Amino acid sequence: MTLVDETDLGTDLDRVVLTEKEIRDRIAEIAAQIDADYRGRDLLLVGVLKGAMMVMADLARSLHLPVTLDFMAVSSYGSGRRSSGVVRILKDLDESIEGRHVLVVEDIVDSGLTLSWLVANLRSRAPASVEVFALMRKPDALVQDIELRYVGFDLPREFVVGYGLDCAERYRNLPFVATLTPQAYRRLAAGAG
Ligand code: IMP
Repeated sequence: MTLVDETDLGTDLDRVVLTEKEIRDRIAEIAAQIDADYRGRDLLLVGVLKGAMMVMADLARSLHLPVTLDFMAVSSYGSGRRSSGVVRILKDLDESIEGRHVLVVEDIVDSGLTLSWLVANLRSRAPASVEVFALMRKPDALVQDIELRYVGFDLPREFVVGYGLDCAERYRNLPFVATLTPQAYRRLAAGAG
């Protein structure tokens, strides 16, 4: 497999959508807002695995507030492109969130189906508050009535990989976000590696 970076994308990646620096700078701006908004409160960051692993790690390190971290894993896309709205908890939170301020950290919101379900599920556990930070948002999320307290970037309706996002589990480790060539997308989504 070809090695890739932002200046040489190899044959499967098409275009850089967010550079490593753009992501880092935007997360720092949002972290400053979160520091100000939650000052004096006990904040729990809830990362949604696996996609949010990068943004969770970078956001947590950019915050000055003393926060705690927990993770959930839910099923959403699998190897396909669309979210079904049928969500399964693969890994639940370790701790109770009763009476706590919860900030869900999401990689990308597309249809918003996964997130709406998740927020409703968390609200049913009697937290003090539940808000959402999504690093990326696609246009359909604007149509749906989804409240995102913090949004990193608005992206066009394209399938992207990198910075935690995968196509058939590939490309999560890229430090930037890019589109796939149509050929690579078809090959990976068909499970041909
Ligand atoms: P939604 O339920 O349609 O909002 O989908 C949310 C989840 O689908 C995200 O947390 C991602 O895991 C995945 N997803 C949505 N768009 C993309 C994409 O462009 N690339 C990779 N995964 C995506």
